[in-house]
Amino acid sequence: MNARKKIGIVGAGMMGSEIALCFARVGYLVSIKDATLELAEKGLANVSRVLDKSLKKGKITEDEKVEIISCLMPTDNYGDLSDADLVIEAVFEDETLKKQIFSDLDTVCKADCIFATNTSSISVTILSTAVRKERIGQFLGMHFFSPASVMKLVEVIPGIDTQNETVDIVMNILRSIGKEPIRVKDVTGFAVNRIFHAMLIETCRLLEEEVASAEDIDKACKLGLGHPMGPFELMDILNNALNLEVEEILCNTYGERFRPRPNLKQRVAAKHLGRVTQRGWFDYSK
Ligand SMILES: NC(=O)c1ccc[n+]([C@@H]2O[C@H](COP(=O)([O-])OP(=O)(O)OC[C@H]3O[C@@H](n4cnc5c(N)ncnc54)[C@H](O)[C@@H]3O)[C@@H](O)[C@H]2O)c1
Repeated sequence: MNARKKIGIVGAGMMGSEIALCFARVGYLVSIKDATLELAEKGLANVSRVLDKSLKKGKITEDEKVEIISCLMPTDNYGDLSDADLVIEAVFEDETLKKQIFSDLDTVCKADCIFATNTSSISVTILSTAVRKERIGQFLGMHFFSPASVMKLVEVIPGIDTQNETVDIVMNILRSIGKEPIRVKDVTGFAVNRIFHAMLIETCRLLEEEVASAEDIDKACKLGLGHPMGPFELMDILNNALNLEVEEILCNTYGERFRPRPNLKQRVAAKHLGRVTQRGWFDYSK
């Protein structure tokens, strides 16, 4: 697939807009579809804000920004995705909604178009059942990390019926946008969220047992393990309600080892969700 091939993104929210930027900045043509044109344009405005930050830091020029934006087309019409070579779905984490979208896309997209889902927690194989059997071999998971325009890793998740050729094509497309893809089995949490939440749960346990303060545990991870950010700081950026939700999903599948800690549940009940509510593990109100 060359750099002028066409990408479709469905869902112009936080992930969809950032994923669109990853493709547009190396010259792919990207149609971004949301439920309304206004929402799709909101996604484009988010891309513009991210580019403005790069502009300020001198990483891109004004001309380059204009060129990147010109590769992006907001739409509320599936018809604009009919000639896409790859469509990536990044709508709300809702199985029924995602299945409906893939079923709709299946009727409008060309036969060789690859379908990818950016789901964090729904089985790729289950979502793939929404498309006709002729397309099921061209369906997989492409799990980006936030912020997608910065994070290099992408988990590539074949479903039971995904063809190896599809995996190879997608791996190459991801390399062409500067990502480092890894192949991961279609299991709950894939690989990264299992590693991450195993660590977060132990982190919460350390705090409960008063082994060290939240500040010092963050310091330990940064200075002792080389992490760019401490786990409590990171949980507050991600939103503790979302952290709890992911751990509940992991616990449903894997049992006790992923049971969320009571101190995380308390934070969520008290609406100490993190930066979004000015209070999480730390206080951001001042
Ligand atoms: N937030 C993260 O850190 C993260 C990381 C990896 C994967 N994900 C996954 O990415 C997906 C999107 O997450 P997000 O954080 O960007 O959510 P978001 O709420 O920011 O964006 C979702 C977008 O989907 C749109 N949408 C809803 N219904 C639609 C429809 N019928 N047609 C078109 N668009 C529709 C919404 O209007 C919204 O713009 C989820 O599946 C999530 O699990 C999120």
